[in-house]
Amino acid sequence: MTQSTRQQLRQQVRLKRQALTLHQQEQASKAVLARFNQLQDVHHAQHIAIYLSNDGELDTGPLIEWLWHHGKTVYLPVLHPFSKGHLLFLHYHPDSRMHCNRYGIAEPVLDVRHVKPVHELDLMCTPMVAFDEQGQRLGMGGGYYDRTLSQWHHHGTGPRPLGLAHDCQQVRHLPCEAWDVPLPAIITPSAYHHW
Ligand SMILES: Nc1ncnc2c1ncn2[C@@H]1O[C@H](COP(=O)(O)OP(=O)(O)O)[C@@H](O)[C@H]1O
Ligand SMILES: [Mg+2]
Repeated sequence: MTQSTRQQLRQQVRLKRQALTLHQQEQASKAVLARFNQLQDVHHAQHIAIYLSNDGELDTGPLIEWLWHHGKTVYLPVLHPFSKGHLLFLHYHPDSRMHCNRYGIAEPVLDVRHVKPVHELDLMCTPMVAFDEQGQRLGMGGGYYDRTLSQWHHHGTGPRPLGLAHDCQQVRHLPCEAWDVPLPAIITPSAYHHW
């Protein structure tokens, strides 16, 4: 029951964000950047993980440019080559060599010299499909960020997550599972939600 509801919600919300026009995407990204660049968490962080937008997700391009411009060190998720369901985080700079992973998402070419252990990151900007009024998060269904953030959730160690989303990704209530990690803060174009 819960699993099929979650799957239906993923479909509904993904269609909504895919339907946003280029203009709406640009406005949304600008509005999120205007909140993002005021946050103390961002100013205090040096090593910041973020992601490249896909599937109608909020465009992180302007945020990444802003981070580079302000001397922050930026990292992107890369699918772990052996450990299924796990992510590695690699340093990302304007000259990074990129390729498409099996989901068709661009990621830095794996090079162990560029891997940053998750516990050394200061902030983790987290993608999502949907979130609810309690800060519960629904992803694409791979559980990647639940695994990545589980240390933070259970032991308070590692980077603090910061969700990024469009307003249309908010739903009233998400049916959650024991492994789901709720987010302490989410930025959308119209609000800074925190719990
Ligand atoms: N910390 C974890 N350890 C082991 N498996 C996990 C963990 N977090 C999530 N999973 C597994 O990942 C799968 C997908 O999780 P789910 O929450 O449905 O995806 P998403 O968060 O991407 O929406 C589930 O089968 C779940 O058992
Ligand atoms: Mg989950």
